[in-house]
Amino acid sequence: MKAVVLCGGEGTRLRPFTYTQAKHLLPVAGKPVVEHALAAVREAGIAEVGIVVGPGVERPFRDRLGDGSHLGLRLEYILQPEPKGLAHAVLCAERFVGDDPFLVYLGDNLLQEGVTGVVDVFCSRNPAAVVSLRRVEDPRRFGVAVIEGGRLVRLVEKPNDPPSDLAIVGAYAFTPLVFQAAREVRPSFRGELELTDCLQWLVDHGHPVLPHEIRGWWQDVGRPEDLLLANRLLLSQIEPRVEGEVDAGSTVEGPVVIEGGARVLGSRLIGPVVIGKEAVVERSTVGPSAAIGPGALVRDATVVDSIVMEGARVAGGGLERSVLGRSVAVMGGGAKVSGAFLGDGSALGLEEGR
Ligand code: DAU
Repeated sequence: MKAVVLCGGEGTRLRPFTYTQAKHLLPVAGKPVVEHALAAVREAGIAEVGIVVGPGVERPFRDRLGDGSHLGLRLEYILQPEPKGLAHAVLCAERFVGDDPFLVYLGDNLLQEGVTGVVDVFCSRNPAAVVSLRRVEDPRRFGVAVIEGGRLVRLVEKPNDPPSDLAIVGAYAFTPLVFQAAREVRPSFRGELELTDCLQWLVDHGHPVLPHEIRGWWQDVGRPEDLLLANRLLLSQIEPRVEGEVDAGSTVEGPVVIEGGARVLGSRLIGPVVIGKEAVVERSTVGPSAAIGPGALVRDATVVDSIVMEGARVAGGGLERSVLGRSVAVMGGGAKVSGAFLGDGSALGLEEGR
């Protein structure tokens, strides 16, 4: 079985970060979103992966992921010239897939239980497709499915009046029959070729489409606040590892990852926390739920429930529920910054005592 991981689309809802970085390369819990997705694919026993990317971003993807061998994968990059929808993205991968069954995984979806379950249902029951589903309180911003007699009978994309509380999760398994469906369906209300409509096409043409209901957490990363939610969830399951330096004046509580070359000096870390390569934390308190990027600097500051990306600096003050892009500088002056989303390269200076 192969996998197709969809990383196209424009990521407009994740601005300002996506002005300068591809959405799926934004870091959560110390790694790009897509690397968490790829780890789940590997875990499901799939090694051959096609990553669908939009124009202009193949270079940063290649720079970060290369041929995938360090992740135990063989990666191929597939261009989707325009973001015309999930089914269009899947069609772009037709040559890569060939005659094999395949997993489709939306590169912005993070699942506690990974994608092994959907692959297992597909391999043991041989249907035309398997769709992961999860019960949610408000299904209106998702695809929604109706099950009867153990099979899917109806699928609707973003309904105003949802026919069930079963949301479509971004992990599916297909036979190549889905390519025929993708050629037959017409663009939806949002002008896109929908995978949801392809599934309905399969059902309408008598092909079995089976559900795989998940129960663990599920987070799609569409908006800046989702980065923080995903960061929290993924940090809650990190394996502690200390490769950098923690001096005698520092304390560490709870699960913490400290990457090689990082230095923690006279500080308190309250896990879960990730400190990236070559980062420096000095006279500060970091955590819980904080991910400090490679080469970042935190000095005389408190950082809680935040993502601080590569090369950013936080000095003097507090930071909470915030995402700082690459090379951002926050000069706190003793003040607390809360709920800030600062794009790459921005600077925020606060006056003493404000
Ligand atoms: O997150 C689950 C939901 O994902 C499902 O419930 C929906 O049924 C499904 O249509 C999808 O809805 P979204 O509106 O959230 O999809 P979005 O446009 O965010 O794209 C999902 C992923 O696919 C994302 O990683 C970007 C990628 N993509 C998207 C488009 C539109 C592409 O690779 N190419 C595209 O043309």
